[in-house]
Amino acid sequence: MSKKSGFKIIGTGRYLPGRPYTNHDLARVMDTDDEWIVRRTGIRQRHFCPEGVGVSDLALPAAKQALEDAGRAPTDVDYILFNTMTPDHVFPGSGPLLGEKLGCVGVPALDLRTQCAAMMFSMQVADSLLISGAAKTILIVGAEAHAGFMPWSDWDILEGTSDKKPEPEDWDRATRHRGLAILFGDGAGAMVVESGENGGGVLGMDVHTDGCHVDKLLIPAGFRTRPFISKRTVEEDLWIPTMQGRDVFKYAVTELPKSIRRACERAGVGVGDVDWFVAHQANQRINDVVRERLDVAPEKVPSNIARYGNTSAATIPILLDEMRRDGRLQEGQLVCFLALGAGIHWGSAVVRL
Ligand code: COA
Repeated sequence: MSKKSGFKIIGTGRYLPGRPYTNHDLARVMDTDDEWIVRRTGIRQRHFCPEGVGVSDLALPAAKQALEDAGRAPTDVDYILFNTMTPDHVFPGSGPLLGEKLGCVGVPALDLRTQCAAMMFSMQVADSLLISGAAKTILIVGAEAHAGFMPWSDWDILEGTSDKKPEPEDWDRATRHRGLAILFGDGAGAMVVESGENGGGVLGMDVHTDGCHVDKLLIPAGFRTRPFISKRTVEEDLWIPTMQGRDVFKYAVTELPKSIRRACERAGVGVGDVDWFVAHQANQRINDVVRERLDVAPEKVPSNIARYGNTSAATIPILLDEMRRDGRLQEGQLVCFLALGAGIHWGSAVVRL
């Protein structure tokens, strides 16, 4: 798919709510410990969205920062791509809410539901919209509020504002979901993209979906039951994601290296030519294995999972913003983005900055 590209990142932003919660904080509400979490995932802390706040609220400061960085006003935006798996409401999506908060009334706002692989799909959609002339200035946002599916209600104990101990049944329930609960954190990232010149943009892309593995990571509740939120759904915790972590891990380390090789081939570059691999941050060990399989130096695969955990759709724009603001990213560099998430959706994109 080597072709002329419309995609140039001209601004980025990020927002992390509140204070970080450490692994030690989590160990107050379930049977886990810092050593296990760090060794198996690389995560040391994460942020949680406060109650009553939705992803459109998290996205707003990130979007404003990205627009300011790009030197663009909200009135310049002519398309919004909103990526989340934890929307403010079951429907409509969070794109319309962000558009209203930004003052982009009348601007098309498309919600994408490709979970942790979101940015791969959004980049492809944005590139196509720019090339077709359907849009000139696109705001891409990823935002997540996973706190709503955390398997405990003792937020005061977690926060250390209460000396109480969890009831044994609350402790046991949170512990049953501990493999999932330690992974996720909340936040938002945004980027503004426009048509590039001088041979920049998306040089090669590779995206896939394999619905045979939907059961590996999903929230079981939905519109298959009547009513879709029932006593049974709540009692059986069907609104908390179920995850077969080992299978997801194996899928990621098998498919992502293949995807990166394909994207590089389509871009007409070697894996060794890439300056940065900006990877989704689901588990540090996944990125280490992918890197080893591609024979890439560790310093080319930046990591921020220790500070934020897995922020799903928000991860790549948050990391991108950190790298842009601290000067690691420079005009003309070759960046390979890569991600995999529930669906299973996955892919990679080779982009010239
Ligand atoms: N704290 C302490 N012990 C825990 C724990 C926790 N938070 N979570 C699980 N354990 C225990 C298990 O109960 C199990 O104990 P047992 O051997 O006595 O039965 C043991 O640790 C191993 O559990 P397992 O689930 O096999 O661990 P793992 O090495 O596969 O690590 C994940 C679990 C979730 C960290 C890992 O599978 C993973 O990251 N997978 C990918 C998930 C992912 O990327 N999801 C998002 C996609 S975007």
